[in-house]
Amino acid sequence: MTTIAILGATGYTALELIKILLRHPNAEITALTSREDTRPAGQVHQSLSGRLNLSLENLTPGEIASRAECVFSCLPHTASAQIVPELLQYGCKVVDFSADYRLDSAESFEKWYEVEHPDPQRLGKVPYGLPELFRKDIIGTDLIANPGCYPTSAILPLVPLLEVGLIEPNDIIIDSKSGVSGAGRKPKLGTLYTECNESISAYGVGTHRHTPEIAQIIARSCKTQMPQVIFTPHLTPMDRGILTTAYSKPVKNVSKDDVLDVLRKKYENEYFVKVVEYLPATKDVSGTNFVHITARVVGSRIITVSAIDNLIKGASGAAVQNFNLLFGYAETTALV
Ligand SMILES: NC(=O)c1ccc[n+]([C@@H]2O[C@H](COP(=O)([O-])OP(=O)(O)OC[C@H]3O[C@@H](n4cnc5c(N)ncnc54)[C@H](OP(=O)(O)O)[C@@H]3O)[C@@H](O)[C@H]2O)c1
Repeated sequence: MTTIAILGATGYTALELIKILLRHPNAEITALTSREDTRPAGQVHQSLSGRLNLSLENLTPGEIASRAECVFSCLPHTASAQIVPELLQYGCKVVDFSADYRLDSAESFEKWYEVEHPDPQRLGKVPYGLPELFRKDIIGTDLIANPGCYPTSAILPLVPLLEVGLIEPNDIIIDSKSGVSGAGRKPKLGTLYTECNESISAYGVGTHRHTPEIAQIIARSCKTQMPQVIFTPHLTPMDRGILTTAYSKPVKNVSKDDVLDVLRKKYENEYFVKVVEYLPATKDVSGTNFVHITARVVGSRIITVSAIDNLIKGASGAAVQNFNLLFGYAETTALV
């Protein structure tokens, strides 16, 4: 049994994480934190009523470490990197949901996040927690940078094509649509029901912070300089889910079946990645840790389409996959 603390337990990713861990035979949630909320978990999240006998607390790193071997940090960027170093010193293993440890350099972090990094010396040394691509790096580490939701949906279809040199790394356009839970539970004007219901809008065009994360993994997978990635996210009136359509340029003539074969070969042993013939929808994967991917060839472009649940494969499900790898449990435990 592994004892677990969840930081930022009032949030959406924390709620999904708790629900998954309640099904995990080897995980015991022993601490839930909030800066101010001290209510029982079942009052903070009514869907947990009668399922978890624990109240939220504002705990110091020492108190957290005294109760938990593994800490899931569901905090925003910079808040996470302010506490993670101390937790590691106390000997905890940490799965960080924020962007704090995803980018390879403080320079890149500070450029895109416009804030100084609280723990810059660790950047570039923390495994990127996408098990389908970096499993070997994850096993045996003490800190994992859990990937961003949009990057997960974009990287999984593109990397196999890049690895075999099938597409140009510098000519990729990624168009993504996300449900509103991607913005977190904290109220904001743009995510009010009246603002986003019955409406769809692009945002962060050319400036979204997941752009360098995607570019970094593309660069790594085809051993090239950081490529230019055009990434346009959209807010859609759904609770959850991400649909990503990526347009890439093949270096030679290919058919749809050629592309699907590359994807199938890469993921033939990956339980959570399904390469499908049909065009996937977010509903196909809602509430699951699966990603559904397909491809088409239209004119001079390969078009890949992928669907995930942003809160599961894009956050808490991936985090539990990583937790399972860290502690030697079967990777699919609590996720099937
Ligand atoms: N939502 C998604 O689809 C998704 C997907 C992948 C990754 N992520 C990442 O996962 C993390 C959590 O996302 P979320 O959607 O669960 O956010 P959320 O619903 O807004 O919850 C974040 C929690 O962090 C705590 N918090 C906020 N500001 C803080 C600060 N300055 N210092 C300490 N604690 C603070 C809050 O708890 P209190 O106010 O109670 O203290 C809040 O409940 C973020 O880093 C996010 O970028 C989210």
